[in-house]
Amino acid sequence: MKTFLKLALMLAVGITLLNAKEIDKESGLIVDKGLQTVKTNCTVCHSAKFIILQKGDRETWKSMIRWMQKTQGLWEFTPEIEDEILTYLETNYPPGDIARRPNLKAKDLPN
Ligand code: HEC
Repeated sequence: MKTFLKLALMLAVGITLLNAKEIDKESGLIVDKGLQTVKTNCTVCHSAKFIILQKGDRETWKSMIRWMQKTQGLWEFTPEIEDEILTYLETNYPPGDIARRPNLKAKDLPN
């Protein structure tokens, strides 16, 4: 194989690995900032599968939380904790095609 092709292939594999999401073995949730907070607050009454199977933007997640707070005995969060949870959820379980890879981060793009 030509050197150029080898390099291109290595780059492609590298980018794929960078984007691969690590999964928390205990809960099955994606490892990201806020995971611990979500595990502490969101896997008490039901398994994390409820979250994994659900998708939504920030508003959708927020309304699910409000619904659980109103009807299912979910406690109130401080604005900081709620922000951390919502950011985690909208980032890792967004609406749309789950097969779609996440956007490249600015730091991973060529200058
Ligand atoms: C106090 C208990 C409790 C806690 C804590 C809790 N939930 Fe729930 N949640 C429920 C109940 C009860 C249901 C409904 C179960 C059913 O449909 O049988 C539910 C359902 C869900 C569903 C499915 C909604 C649907 O439309 O199918 C999702 C997603 C969800 N919860 C996410 C979360 C998230 C995210 C958190 C953390 C912010 C959380 N839950 C914390 C009680 C709780």
